[in-house]
Amino acid sequence: MSGFDVIRIGGRIGAEVVGVDLGAELPADVITDLNSALLQHKALVFRGADLDDESQLAFAARFGALTKAHPTGVPSVEGQPEVLPIDGEDHRANHWHTDCTFVRTPPKASTLRGIVIPAYGGNTLIANQATAYLDLPRDLREFADKLWAVHTNDAGQPLLETDRADEYRKMFLSTIYKTAHPVVRVHPESGEPGLFISSFAQQVAGLSMSESRAVLDMLQRYISRPENVLRIKWNPGDLVLFDNRNTQHYGPDDYDDQPRMLHRVTIAGDVPVGLDGKKSYLLEGDDAAHYTPAVV
Ligand SMILES: [Fe+2]
Repeated sequence: MSGFDVIRIGGRIGAEVVGVDLGAELPADVITDLNSALLQHKALVFRGADLDDESQLAFAARFGALTKAHPTGVPSVEGQPEVLPIDGEDHRANHWHTDCTFVRTPPKASTLRGIVIPAYGGNTLIANQATAYLDLPRDLREFADKLWAVHTNDAGQPLLETDRADEYRKMFLSTIYKTAHPVVRVHPESGEPGLFISSFAQQVAGLSMSESRAVLDMLQRYISRPENVLRIKWNPGDLVLFDNRNTQHYGPDDYDDQPRMLHRVTIAGDVPVGLDGKKSYLLEGDDAAHYTPAVV
């Protein structure tokens, strides 16, 4: 490792990285080693990184091309088209999801930066979908291996009952996307297979809605097991980098009316591939080229 320490904080997911200044011009070998640590631990926590928008963008861009803030009409931070505000007044992501899996090329990874952190609650949970896959009994794994699921942003996520939240929901649904993804995705860098579902996954191809719900809920229970979940308690200035190709995350809505603000910058990903080599395909909406590089 290039002069920094990687300290595991969960048995199956998560590490804190100590001794690297994310605001500095990092040499290429440090980025390569951080990427290796990301592949291994899936979520990296950098305490007290103390970045601003510019340095968060610069750090994220070392891992690949950036996406715009969001594929739908959800607005970016003013003057920063690649920075998404995560504001507890607009929306609380208290559902297990993988960012933007409703487009054909969901992000590779996300960076989250803590800015305003509530005195209690407001943690982020991140789950390892690769170890969840290994937890499946063999027959169930072989069943999951063949499944495909339709992901959409019109998935009925939980809502705050405020006018601001209504406005956010309208923007979130201003464009409807539907994409079929393999339920078991092969990680493009590590080759590791993992479950690839999300609360955006609504229907399993070939099954009715109620059968789909039962199958997805059954698989989700393996992902949400505490063994597969890391819980991150935020301090202002912390930065978290997580792999969006084999994790899910959840933002508990447990901080009452305290303010909470994170800024998110995401790194563009490629088209998911199943165990049979087949790639994800669009069912509704465009290739989201306004959001992320269109990958053939
Ligand atoms: Fe998210």
